[in-house]
Amino acid sequence: MTARTVGIHDISFATSHHVLDLRELADHAETDVDKFYIGIGQSEMSVLAEDEDIVTLATEAAQRVLERQGSEEIRTLLFATESGVDQSKAAGVYVHGLLGLSPHCRVVELKQACYSATAALQFALGIVSRNPEERVLVIASDVARYELDSSGEATQGAGAVAMVVTANPALVAIEPESGLYTSDIHDFWRPNYRSEALVDGKFSMNAYLESLEGAWHDYESNGGVAVGEIDRFCYHQPFTKMAVKAQEQLQKVAAIEASSAECMQLVGASLEMNRRVGNSYTASLYLGLLSLLNYEADDLAGKRIGFFSYGSGSVSEFFTGVVQSGYRDVLRVKEDAARLSARLPLTYAQYRELHNRVDLVEGTQFTTPHRTHSPFRFSGVEGHVRQYERVLLDHGIRGSAQ
Ligand code: CAA
Repeated sequence: MTARTVGIHDISFATSHHVLDLRELADHAETDVDKFYIGIGQSEMSVLAEDEDIVTLATEAAQRVLERQGSEEIRTLLFATESGVDQSKAAGVYVHGLLGLSPHCRVVELKQACYSATAALQFALGIVSRNPEERVLVIASDVARYELDSSGEATQGAGAVAMVVTANPALVAIEPESGLYTSDIHDFWRPNYRSEALVDGKFSMNAYLESLEGAWHDYESNGGVAVGEIDRFCYHQPFTKMAVKAQEQLQKVAAIEASSAECMQLVGASLEMNRRVGNSYTASLYLGLLSLLNYEADDLAGKRIGFFSYGSGSVSEFFTGVVQSGYRDVLRVKEDAARLSARLPLTYAQYRELHNRVDLVEGTQFTTPHRTHSPFRFSGVEGHVRQYERVLLDHGIRGSAQ
């Protein structure tokens, strides 16, 4: 019997209508922009239009993979988010409706801060291992919001990643070993009555690094390979510099000397897209994977990637996957770059107004102005029910930013 692999067969992303260059934020705060560009490694952040939310981003990302993969064998849709739009109904049910998926499909939402997309991926692998004919649609979609004029403000962002998980995947086969680490802490959290997260910034960075160490040791004791046998690393990226710090920490824990340049080489390509999108919480690690596959100049076929998923509060996991030969044929490099470049730049004043408006949009009855160029939009609320529309476009990706 031939050994069967399970993993990520296709991957796509979506992000917002607007973008804010962090220079705008630096000018407003009278801060040296290099604190953002170099210090935290972020150049831009995605900002949602009034008629976008986690559902519209998720649906756009999923549509792009399903256009190619079809939806016939999808009997499970797992939606990971920490920006839920309803306390009861899973956001994925809206996606299911907008994409016209089969009624014979289980749909569920998963939450544990930025970690839950990894739980979704692991659950999906379990389903596919049990029945290799099935395909699971895993979506991670989030909007990262902090208070205006807070130190977290430069680490906001928004994005969604959709993945089809199958047997004999075309992109990345996920290996069975994994390391886990959970700790009941308050480094970052968002009570139900708030639209913005609360965070203890420096504590959260230390908690992230301690969790990496804890998850790594558990990975080692569960039969994982040595650090030196991993060719590239993908980390959860609240800001891209965090991934570089994580790599340096892992080298230290493994007692393998590596210069900053060597650490950068191991994570570099995974930072490209996140640097421009900002924090996308659950989607961030998998946007890092897409970025690595899209932008790594070396051929990654047969190479092993180490993944570290961190969700504040906190739950984390270290695991690995092997890039499959022919993976480049599956990518949409130009389309992805066009998607990022199509975002409309905001001035600082426009960004601030949009940020404040989210808090004002409440109530049982309202409509949103048509702003987004996405094929899907959030058009408002009628009688407590969120309304979504499919906008007829002649292509799934947005046109120019004009
Ligand atoms: N040129 C170059 N570098 C500069 C600079 C300049 N002019 N000015 C400052 N810097 C550097 C600093 O030296 C620092 O670098 P190091 O960390 O390597 O020393 C970096 O820029 C940031 O400067 P500060 O530490 O002064 O920044 P801050 O305290 O104002 O804010 C932060 C940083 C705490 C990360 C804040 O952005 C924050 O709270 N973010 C949200 C929380 C977060 O992202 N935590 C990450 C772990 S939790 C997690 O991962 C889950 C999640 O998604 C939220």
